[in-house]
Amino acid sequence: MKQEINTLLESYLAELGRVPDLSALERLRLEVLGRKGKLAQLFKDLRGLSAEERPEAGKVLNEARARLEGAFETARERVTSASRKGPAVDITLPGRVPQLGRLHPITQVSTEITSIFQRLGFEVAEGPEVELDYYNFEALNIPKDHPARDMQDTFYISDSILLRTHTSPIQVRVMEKRKPPVRIIAPGKVYRRDSDITHSPMFHQVEGLMVDKDVSFGDLKGILAVFVHQMFGPKVGLRFRPSFFPFTEPSAEVDIQCVMCGGGGCRVCKETGWLEILGSGMVDPEVFKMVGYDAHEVTGFAFGMGVERIAMLKFGINDLRLFFENDLRFLEQF
Ligand code: DAH
Repeated sequence: MKQEINTLLESYLAELGRVPDLSALERLRLEVLGRKGKLAQLFKDLRGLSAEERPEAGKVLNEARARLEGAFETARERVTSASRKGPAVDITLPGRVPQLGRLHPITQVSTEITSIFQRLGFEVAEGPEVELDYYNFEALNIPKDHPARDMQDTFYISDSILLRTHTSPIQVRVMEKRKPPVRIIAPGKVYRRDSDITHSPMFHQVEGLMVDKDVSFGDLKGILAVFVHQMFGPKVGLRFRPSFFPFTEPSAEVDIQCVMCGGGGCRVCKETGWLEILGSGMVDPEVFKMVGYDAHEVTGFAFGMGVERIAMLKFGINDLRLFFENDLRFLEQF
């Protein structure tokens, strides 16, 4: 019997050394130390031994039980402390560098445009993206039958409410509220029913306005020349080309020398050597009348430009959609 007890003891001590978790441990405990377990059976078997053999066997059996109980305690501690520690962490591994966000290239360019004008004394102004027909068209001298009002170009919300199609209504809102002199720069989102490789239904513009006594076309040229040279470099040439806008008279579009070929002519500038970057002009007296300014007292100029277009020219990007897909591989380059 002594032999039997020792074999049992050895096999359970070995098992306890590799028991993986608490439930396996409990199963083992019931099997050997439980009321109907293997030790209980051996204690019962003692009765079948002779009076000489019994004390010796009893002693061995008690010792085996004590050792097993101790071994269970040790195993329990090992299993519970392992589960508390969780997965091992190698503290010698180098840390992960946190990914930093950054401003979208359109935001960067829009901010760059406005800050150039802020340095020239222009104040930032804003207006609503959901706008009244009155501010978007009427007050800017765009009559009811003007093609720009066509359902094909404008997102209408109702007969008199729409998504602004340009940032020019901000001019009107500012002049309505303030007396001259006024010098504002107004960035924002605008909306048009257009969607292809070169048009997005939402895009960004920056509007500028300066009104005071004796503001001339020369002032407009001077200010915009400073802007072009800060934005595209001091050597880039620019020209004013006669144009038409209902809210300015006279009106001009500004071209810069092609940033791709330097003016020699290429595919980007359609062999002209020039790229159009903005619309501008002297504020039409009709617009002054709408906001209660006296056109005999003050004059002013205004201009408006598309941020996506400026960004594409500045960074040499040929597909507008890159700005809206938000592919990190593209955005991370700015
Ligand atoms: N609002 C015009 C557009 O969306 C741009 C523009 C042209 C704004 C001439 C002006 C301006 O203020 O004077 O195309």
